[in-house]
Amino acid sequence: MINLIDFSKRRERFLAKLEGKAAVIPAASMVVHHADCEYPFRQNSDFWYLTGFDEPDAVALFLPHRDKGEQFVLFVRPKEPENEVWHGSRWGTNGAIEHFGVDIAHPLSDLEDYLVDYLLGAKGIAFRVGKHPKIETLVLRAWCKQLDHSSKSGQAAFGLFAPCSILHEMRLRKEPEELERMREAARISAEAHEIARRFVRPEINERQVQAVLENYFLEQGARGPAYGSIVAGGDNACVLHYTANNCTLRSGDLLLIDAGCSLVDYYNGDITRTFPVNGRFTPQQRDLYEVVLAAQRAAVEDVVVGHDAEGVHLTALRILVEGLIELGLLVGSTESVIAEGSYRHLYMHRTGHWLGLDVHDVGAYRLGEYPVELEEGMVLTVEPGIYVSDRLAVPEGQPEIKDHWKGIGIRIEDDVLVTGNEPEVLSGDALKSIDDLEA
Ligand code: GLY
Ligand code: MN
Ligand code: MN
Repeated sequence: MINLIDFSKRRERFLAKLEGKAAVIPAASMVVHHADCEYPFRQNSDFWYLTGFDEPDAVALFLPHRDKGEQFVLFVRPKEPENEVWHGSRWGTNGAIEHFGVDIAHPLSDLEDYLVDYLLGAKGIAFRVGKHPKIETLVLRAWCKQLDHSSKSGQAAFGLFAPCSILHEMRLRKEPEELERMREAARISAEAHEIARRFVRPEINERQVQAVLENYFLEQGARGPAYGSIVAGGDNACVLHYTANNCTLRSGDLLLIDAGCSLVDYYNGDITRTFPVNGRFTPQQRDLYEVVLAAQRAAVEDVVVGHDAEGVHLTALRILVEGLIELGLLVGSTESVIAEGSYRHLYMHRTGHWLGLDVHDVGAYRLGEYPVELEEGMVLTVEPGIYVSDRLAVPEGQPEIKDHWKGIGIRIEDDVLVTGNEPEVLSGDALKSIDDLEA
């Protein structure tokens, strides 16, 4: 399925957009977990987007100022049988050329020697400073050398800039083949939610539910969870990034699950569902759930060409605030509560984010004072919620919260594709109506 993605076409587009400037894009490195154990490898998404190469420490050069056949250069870890017997095989320079469409491949140790020459003649250098200290030193040294010799050579790359302005705009608008992968990530994630919900009963531990979800991700061929799965019973759901997942589920509580898989080619699902542990909503839970569901459904409808993420957020926010006023958890007019931000002890996050190779995917939300308009091929999560707990102070002028509301945390999150017509809810297989959740 990874072959679905045509990395070479993508590189051609990137090279054209560089307009004569060179780009240096480093891969991710292994990260120590503890002692001499490392976390599973996670490739840098920009590097992956352009190469499909899944090894650490490589460095890709994109050189539009050079002839065809030497514009995509990759520095890789060389073949080393003594190392590979411990850590697994590497593609090496020949493998990089044969399998990844690389024009020229070098061992990583040659980067310092070759970089100056490769960058010579470029109109500028695209490199993200502040993220890759070792490579940054080499890039800056190569750039300095060029500047030092520019009066003699008559050539120098005079500007250093971040490649994200080009690359992240490309990543924001998904190609049709990427959307197929995102549908697959959402399908697996949604099915896992359904399986987990049917498994849930009082007195089991949150971690057992996490195991069911993540087992399904792996069984379906995904790499694993896209982020730390959140399995939060009762009041734990009011901690937005709760990942301890170590409490017993109680009858009468809600369970919030925020989990999605990451495919082998890093496309992600990100879904949240909230439902009663014993299969029946209490009156207070039902009241709040209906408000969040109405807000979420209206906001999903707003994910259409020409609208923007800010507008989607405001649609959800208005319905949440209206509902909370009606239930007596807020007082005032909808407009004044929103203007003053006096809802933030109950709803403290935004309603969505771009989704793609990163869960919180790249791409601007605003360009200066203008919000970025939604276009076909963009994917946005829609995830309003209400979280009632004692953690944040009630703002002045707002009512103290009665005990029977406390310990209720609800979020409903779908992954939504902007199309030329209706919004396409990629995660729609995970049920969310009250009737379905109580069936
Ligand atoms: N699971 C992370 C998020 O919903 O943004
Ligand atoms: Mn999300
Ligand atoms: Mn989420």
